[in-house]
Amino acid sequence: MNIVQPSIENIEIAANIIKSGGLVGMPTETVYGLGANAFDSAAVAKIYTAKNRPNFNPLISHVSNTDMVCDIARVDERFYALANKFWPGPLTFVLPRINEKLDLACAGLNSVSVRMPNHPVALALISAAGVPIVAPSANISTTISPTTATHVFDSLGDRVDIILDGGNCDVGLESTILDLTGDDIYLLRPGGLAVEEIEDFLGYKIKIAKTNSSAPKSPGQMLKHYAPAKDLRINVTQKNEDEFFIGFGDMVCDLNLSEMGDLSQAATNLFAYMRIGDADKRYKKIAIAPIPNVGLGLAINDRLARGVRK
Ligand code: TXA
Ligand code: MG
Repeated sequence: MNIVQPSIENIEIAANIIKSGGLVGMPTETVYGLGANAFDSAAVAKIYTAKNRPNFNPLISHVSNTDMVCDIARVDERFYALANKFWPGPLTFVLPRINEKLDLACAGLNSVSVRMPNHPVALALISAAGVPIVAPSANISTTISPTTATHVFDSLGDRVDIILDGGNCDVGLESTILDLTGDDIYLLRPGGLAVEEIEDFLGYKIKIAKTNSSAPKSPGQMLKHYAPAKDLRINVTQKNEDEFFIGFGDMVCDLNLSEMGDLSQAATNLFAYMRIGDADKRYKKIAIAPIPNVGLGLAINDRLARGVRK
């Protein structure tokens, strides 16, 4: 097994793997990432292969400071204001790209997405590597995202050279993605930072990008994604006999995302609980209770809707 504790020596070993073109399982506060040197096309290509990911899907570059962003993107005041407020954290910006070495990482788009993760191990790894690290979620494409080091190993095994064990992910949902390439700010993906928090800071509403699943603005927003192996039914108030029932709030169920009805606790538990439902041999299917569509509930419902098989 290639899971290691994130000691200073092991982080140095992982940074050398990045520098020499390998793949590292990297903990972040949202989900575990499958990391490679953003400037190394051969290493980036390995990510697409390891995940069975369609080549047209661009990756997020993870940085440990804003200077790293300036090397690859054109930044403006909106970026600095938002990054000052919310970085490190579960917020990704899409910006105009200025570096052609990132062609493959950005799937040929003239924009680049950047994020500074709020996890000490990720930040130490990026600093030690000295380059932006591109990292999609560390799982086979379309399946449930990993929130522990073991999930990464279970999904990718030896396709990843080393996995740094940074514990359970606090946030548990991928980052919120904002498009800053135009005059108006657009939400491309709801995620681990509630849109309301961003709007409160900005003092105005953010536009929601219209999703067109055949040619999405954020290409990862394909309809089927985050899917458990079993059939998933959502907004369920009455479970069927063959269903593993994931509840929310005060109710009888097999596992409760948050008895108190706390959306951030529910977000943290969501992917791990879907995995437990998948593994439970007593049930053929998974059902999930209704989740209020506010705050982090927006991102939770987005992932659940994509987890339903079409
Ligand atoms: O929390 C996260 O964001 C995690 C952790 C590992 O940081 N990463 C993650 O990466 O969720 P991934 O590859 O699963 O999702 C990245 C999303 C995709 O939907 C992709 O299409 C979109 O970001 N994206 C990346 N670059 C983009 C760009 N230049 N323009 C529009 N969308 C972009
Ligand atoms: Mg993903």
